[in-house]
Amino acid sequence: MNSAAQQKLANQVVIITGASSGIGLATATAFHRAGARVVMSARDPGRLRQAAEPLRGSPGPDPLLLPCNVADRAQVDRLVAETIRHFGRVDILVNNAGIGMIAPLDATPPADAAALMATNFLGAFHCSQAVLPHMKERRAGHILNIASVAGLRGIPNSSLYSASKAALIAFSDAIRIELAPFGIRVSVLCPNRVKDTAFFNNAKRYGSLGLYHIRVTLTADAVAAAVLKTAIRPKPIVVIPFVSRAANTLNKFAPSLVDRFLARNMPKPGPVSPVRP
Ligand SMILES: NC(=O)c1ccc[n+]([C@@H]2O[C@H](COP(=O)([O-])OP(=O)(O)OC[C@H]3O[C@@H](n4cnc5c(N)ncnc54)[C@H](OP(=O)(O)O)[C@@H]3O)[C@@H](O)[C@H]2O)c1
Repeated sequence: MNSAAQQKLANQVVIITGASSGIGLATATAFHRAGARVVMSARDPGRLRQAAEPLRGSPGPDPLLLPCNVADRAQVDRLVAETIRHFGRVDILVNNAGIGMIAPLDATPPADAAALMATNFLGAFHCSQAVLPHMKERRAGHILNIASVAGLRGIPNSSLYSASKAALIAFSDAIRIELAPFGIRVSVLCPNRVKDTAFFNNAKRYGSLGLYHIRVTLTADAVAAAVLKTAIRPKPIVVIPFVSRAANTLNKFAPSLVDRFLARNMPKPGPVSPVRP
């Protein structure tokens, strides 16, 4: 990152949800290195403390750790109020907390479906609504939502997950226009599969399904770098890596070709092979 970019992020107050692991932790680390004042949030306070340990005592203020379940509106309101009490403002909100589920439709438990939507979609809604009065008053702010390529193109056996991310993309598109007159920016990032996070190990899995057979190149650090780049130069939507941008374009013009690719690479029911992050 060049020094002009670094200057832009220095002292910015950034809330990152799901910051104890994977993309959220990489993003918190990258913002912290850039001199931002980082608020790290996730449900499990012990894991959050442990994850933030390497960031403590380094140059710049220690991250503020605020445990919060984004599915719970009262907890989200406390997260935002405590951030403002501590740092005086919120400049950037990264809605990253998310969970996965790999399940054919007939094996998808309704309670899990509701829990997934409550975290992946309503979590971002809660956090965005909670920072809104403050950002509107300051006529400034940037909301960055971490969706997925699965929201651009539904993935079989991940229908609920895909729907939660499609909802997040549509939500981002809508509020980007709605909030622009108040000086608030909204971006949505759609990464493809990331190879070094706990996501697939933590994902609920039903129907003995493995993962798609695709080449995975993206790292949590690469997604974090894209988040920072977008925070510096806001863009409506960011799809990474390049091959996913190409696939997204192909899907718009020849969706049945993408259907065939997905059907061919779809894992068949059978013994679940261990998933390595
Ligand atoms: N990994 C991928 O291939 C991939 C690809 C595209 C998009 N994404 C998206 O990227 C985001 C981060 O995924 P990741 O791969 O970094 O996963 P991860 O390593 O499993 O991290 C998930 C983080 O979210 C937190 N979290 C989960 N449920 C929460 C809740 N209800 N409230 C608050 N925090 C919660 C977890 O901590 P606690 O459990 O302690 O709460 C953890 O810090 C997700 O939104 C995911 O959908 C991932």
